[in-house]
Amino acid sequence: MGKIILTGDRPTGKLHVGHYVGSLKHRIKLQNSGDYDETFIMIADAQALTDNADNPEKVRQNIIEVALDYLSCGLDPDISTLFIQSQIPELCELSFYYMNLVTVSRLQRNPTVKSEIQMRNFETSIPVGFFTYPISQAADITAFKATTVPVGEDQLPMIEQTKEIVRRFNSVYDEVLVEPDSLLPDNKACLRLPGIDGKAKMSKSLNNCIYLSDPEDEVKKKIMGMYTDPNHIHVDDPGQVEGNPVFVYLDAFSKPEHFAEYFPDYQCLDEVKEHYSRGGLGDIKIKKFLNTVLQEELSPIRARRKEFEKDIPAIYEILKKGSQKAEAVAAQTLSEVKRAMKINYFEDQDLIQAQAKRFLENIPSK
Ligand code: TRP
Repeated sequence: MGKIILTGDRPTGKLHVGHYVGSLKHRIKLQNSGDYDETFIMIADAQALTDNADNPEKVRQNIIEVALDYLSCGLDPDISTLFIQSQIPELCELSFYYMNLVTVSRLQRNPTVKSEIQMRNFETSIPVGFFTYPISQAADITAFKATTVPVGEDQLPMIEQTKEIVRRFNSVYDEVLVEPDSLLPDNKACLRLPGIDGKAKMSKSLNNCIYLSDPEDEVKKKIMGMYTDPNHIHVDDPGQVEGNPVFVYLDAFSKPEHFAEYFPDYQCLDEVKEHYSRGGLGDIKIKKFLNTVLQEELSPIRARRKEFEKDIPAIYEILKKGSQKAEAVAAQTLSEVKRAMKINYFEDQDLIQAQAKRFLENIPSK
């Protein structure tokens, strides 16, 4: 059995640096490691519609944005299969059968679903499609027999739920599905990058994101305006490092070689933190350093994006080819699933012959 990656994103907006350090960067490393037989990267438009049913245009517009973000970060369509979820009808069929293996109360206990219901004020009227999206996510993963799902921390309950569905399916029917493992980035700061306003999470609706496609001056403006320690008023005041977004970002983005190059007064991030805690190090100085570090990471991405933007039809073509390839794989799994579930009537000559015999001999059905 091969090592197979599947992961994806909802196309509800452009991707931001939180997506980048939380998952995208990791995917590209895995893609380039040569350790995996297949890498499937999915634009989860059908899942995006589960809480944007009344806004299909938003989802439609953002498919190309996410695809551009993928390609400019280094996902390579010659290695990874990039595809669009809604173009793989087999995923719906799988979801429909998996629904029989999951209880309502189990879905209600899914922590990610729980907090999303709260966030969206769905408490009194949850769309069924939204409520059941963890099941469709299990279909996404198992359709490709994925062994590895590189995701952010908030997706762990989905992988857990997928594993349960796989175990249940394999024990009730037959060993067809593969139990996936999640893969998180090793760097703790990358798990959840705060918004530039200091809120726990970057979110489009909070307007606190740095987007991969933001121009250089926009990134700079956002960093210079970033929330830091509100009690660090004078340079000499002791500053709080813990939970300070500027330092979380530095934890996520700075590399040892950056200090000699851009911040020679310090040998490493710990020295910077130490000085800040002690007092005497101003926010502007660290923000300028962060800006340099972040621009270094983002500028090649931005440059590649400009190139890809010149031929948009070619990107739709990449997604179309990827979707065709993905559908062939999902169709194979679906056929195994249907055989295991005994709903493969027309390919089952034994069944047809046995039924014929039964009626000839007048044997009552079971
Ligand atoms: N739920 C993921 C998100 O919100 C998107 C997604 C859909 C996904 N299906 C998936 C991620 C399967 C990993 C595996 O970003």
